[in-house]
Amino acid sequence: MKVLVIGGGGREHAICWKLQQSPHVTNIFCAPGNAGIAEIATCIPIKPTDFEKLTELVIAQQIDLTIASMDEPLSKGIVDFFRKKGLRIFGPTKEASKLEWSKYFAKEFMLRHRIPTASYACFEKRDFALAYANSQKTPIVIKADGLALGKGVTVAKSHEEAKIAIHDCFDGKFGEAGSRVVIEEFMKGQEVSIFAISDGKDAVTLVPAQDYKRLLEGDQGPNTGGMGAYAPVPFMTPEFLGKIKEEIIIPTIEGMAKEGNPFQGILYCGLMITEDGSAKVVEFNSRLGDPETQVVLPLLDEDFFEICWAVTEGDLGKYKEGLHRLGGAALCVVIACKGYPQNYKKGIPVNFTRLNEPVEIVSGKNPQTLESILRAKGIIFHAGTARDTDGNLVSNGGRVVGVTALADSLLDAQVLAYKLCERIDFEDKYYRKDIGDKGMV
Ligand code: AMP
Ligand code: GLY
Repeated sequence: MKVLVIGGGGREHAICWKLQQSPHVTNIFCAPGNAGIAEIATCIPIKPTDFEKLTELVIAQQIDLTIASMDEPLSKGIVDFFRKKGLRIFGPTKEASKLEWSKYFAKEFMLRHRIPTASYACFEKRDFALAYANSQKTPIVIKADGLALGKGVTVAKSHEEAKIAIHDCFDGKFGEAGSRVVIEEFMKGQEVSIFAISDGKDAVTLVPAQDYKRLLEGDQGPNTGGMGAYAPVPFMTPEFLGKIKEEIIIPTIEGMAKEGNPFQGILYCGLMITEDGSAKVVEFNSRLGDPETQVVLPLLDEDFFEICWAVTEGDLGKYKEGLHRLGGAALCVVIACKGYPQNYKKGIPVNFTRLNEPVEIVSGKNPQTLESILRAKGIIFHAGTARDTDGNLVSNGGRVVGVTALADSLLDAQVLAYKLCERIDFEDKYYRKDIGDKGMV
C-alpha cells in the first residue's frame, strides 16, 4: 500500500515513522515533509491546503490512503475534496472538524449533549463582551472563536487583561477567527490530552498524554504549539479513562452522528482534571496533537496503518477490546529556536554528530535505573528542519526537533531524553528542563 501523509512537522515525522513499521506499507509520501521525514518517505513540495495538487499526486502515484492530521486543511475541507474524487482519506469532514475550528460550535454542542465543560458565554458585539467580562470574577478565559494558530486564547488574570484580549479579537488580530468571542470560566487543575480514534460509531483511545504548552519552565510564559509531552499519565487509571469515555467521548461521537456529521478520524479531547477529580473539556481538536503524537504512537503496539484503514472502512468495531500498548513510558522534549513562538532565525546549522557517543550516566543519582536507561531507546523526530543547498541540516521553523525517549520508567525516559538533547548542537537552541516532572509520583 502507498500512503500519503499531509504536513511536515514532528507529528508527521512520528506518523511516518510508525507507518514505516507496517508490513502493509510499501511507500510513504509526505507533503511537504521535512529533512527528517525525507529519510523515510518521499517528500513532495505541495502545500497542505493545495487540494487540487494533492489529489493529482494521489492519482498519479496511485496512493491508496491519505492521512490528514493538520487543523488548517481539515477545516478547509480536505476530506470532503478527496472523497468527492473517490479517494480514500483518513480524517473528519469539514463539518465534523467544526468541533475544532469553531469554539462557539463546540461549546453549544457540549451544552446540547451534556458534556462537561467550563461555563461560557459567546459574543459578536464588543460592548456586550466587555460588559460581561467585567461582571465576572478573574481569572477569566477569552477565546477567539476560530483557528488562530494556537494564539487565540488568553487566560486573563485581571479585568484589564481581559479587556485587551477582547479588543484584540474584535480589532482583527486573529482575522476572521476573532469576529466572535467565547468567554469562559477559568478551570484549575491538570491538563490531559486524550486521543479517541473513531469511525463515526465506535471509538478507541490511545494512551493518555500530557502536553507542556507554555514556553518556560513551571508552565510560565506564552502558549506555544507544545514544548514537550509524556505518556502515560499516572493518574489516568483505566477506570478514570473508562469514565471519560462514557461521559465525554461516546456522547461526542453519538452526538455528531445524530446531528448528521459523523466524526471519522481522531478526536483530540483536551481535558482539565479539576480539583474535585472530575474531567471537563478545555477544547476539542479534530486530529492528533503535536508533540503528543511523538510519545503516543511509539507506545502503540498495533499497526497504525491498519487502524486508519479500518476507520475509512467504518470497521473499527474489531478493536472494541481496546488498543494494545507497550509497557514503559515515553517522553518528548521539543528543542526550539530562541525567540520562538515570536521571532526566530531560520537556516541555523543543526549538528547531530555527538548523538552517537555512548550514553554515560553519572552513577549515584539513580543507580537502580542505569541498566534500564542503557536499554532505553531514543528517537529524533524532526519538526522545522531542511537541507541547505550543500545538503547540510539547518533549522526551518521555531520548533526544530523533538527528542523522544522510550524507557521502562518515566524517570529513565526523562534522563535519556535530556542526555540526547545536550548532544544536539545548534546556536540559539532552547528547551524546557522540566518535561515529565508532573508525571513523577
Ligand atoms: P485551547 O486552545 O482552547 O486549548 O486553550 C489553550 C490553553 O489555554 C489550554 O491548553 C489551557 O492551558 C488554557 N485554557 C483554555 N481554556 C481554559 C479554561 N477554561 N480554564 C483554564 N485554562 C484554559
Ligand atoms: N499539542 C497541542 C496541539 O497539538 O494542539
